[in-house]
Amino acid sequence: MNHKVILFLGFAVLLQQASAATDKVICYYASWAVTRPGNGKFVPEDIDPNLCTHVNYAFLGLNDDGSLQVLDEENDINQGGLKRVSALKEVNPDLKVLLSIGGAAADTGVFSTVASSPEKRDAMAKSAIEFFETYGFDGLDVDWEYPGGGDIETYVELLSALKTAFEPKGYLVTVAVNSIPGEVGGYDIAAMSKVLDVINVMTYDFHAGWGPTAENSPLYGGVNESSWTKENRNADAAIRYWLDGGADPQKVTIGIAFYGHTYILSNPSNNGLDAPTAGPGEPGEYTDNQGSLGYNEVCEFHPNGTVVFLEDMKVPYLYDDNFWIGYDNEESIGYKVRYAQEKNLAGVFIWSIETDDMHGFCGEKNGLLKSIYNKIKK
Ligand SMILES: *[C@@H]1O[C@H](CO)[C@@H](O)[C@H](O)[C@H]1NC(C)=O
Ligand SMILES: *[C@@H]1O[C@H](CO)[C@@H](O)[C@H](O)[C@H]1NC(C)=O
Repeated sequence: MNHKVILFLGFAVLLQQASAATDKVICYYASWAVTRPGNGKFVPEDIDPNLCTHVNYAFLGLNDDGSLQVLDEENDINQGGLKRVSALKEVNPDLKVLLSIGGAAADTGVFSTVASSPEKRDAMAKSAIEFFETYGFDGLDVDWEYPGGGDIETYVELLSALKTAFEPKGYLVTVAVNSIPGEVGGYDIAAMSKVLDVINVMTYDFHAGWGPTAENSPLYGGVNESSWTKENRNADAAIRYWLDGGADPQKVTIGIAFYGHTYILSNPSNNGLDAPTAGPGEPGEYTDNQGSLGYNEVCEFHPNGTVVFLEDMKVPYLYDDNFWIGYDNEESIGYKVRYAQEKNLAGVFIWSIETDDMHGFCGEKNGLLKSIYNKIKK
């Protein structure tokens, strides 16, 4: 081999490494946070556009005919929610903003109906492009929770129809997907990976609210867990499932939760993992959801709680009298970012940035997002 060839190969390897970076920080924004009281209120201008590479505006809905549906006319349109998020690109011109459609509360039947009709798939693509052009967005994030066994092929056809329509204009198609290997039904992973720009694997909600205390988003299985739990209910198992199934690592992101699941301890002095509970915790002052709290609420309302870090699962829990939460903090997030780098993933995504510690009760303002950004940019 002559030197020019060796030099060329050297450059090719360098280029490949440069393009195979773990550099995406995809920030979901729960747009309804504008109506939260007091310190819980979070408006589009509270997003720091220099700490995210993508902002996903949650959520829009889907109509039966395939057209996109505005779910909160007052907030999204009249108060300018959509336009104010896309205006963040004036601050950071490299930022991409996407419309996230669906979510856990959406009717999964509508997605099934639209995916199975060629006309409705095209109508969805057309409607999405109209939204991008009107509101200044760069792509669509499909959050269908979840396609079933009968949707496997039509889901890929839907994503392909979107990609084909978007590609000439450079618009992105991304998805958020189920993370529990044993419960995944409706995915042809290899085919999805060919079509998609990003696959956000929702590596959280592995345990929630009922039964004994347990972690929301363990990175690894626990030493005392059953083998089924070890293989199904942690972020590492989920990511390996998607990679082994044929997903391009450079399209996969690991999900980072800025919230945790809460429990009421039966006995405050029995406060470890797998402790008996009297059910899910009370709704938070801001997020108002039984059985979960935002990291912001943990910081503001449990400043004196005791934090215990689980070395096997690489996540903390906190207890405060009979209150218990399995959640994420800077330390556990550091492990998840490093994991994404070791697996050569596209990056991380966050559900969701408005429950970061924006007022700095735990330390630096927006400490979680800043720590992610600093580790990714290193
Ligand atoms: C595993 O279970 C044993 C026995 O109950 C306990 O002593 C130990 O602390 C547990 N380890 C972890 C990491 O939870
Ligand atoms: C936390 O501890 C500090 C110092 O002991 C105390 O002043 C404060 O009231 C405590 N906060 C709560 C919410 O219990």
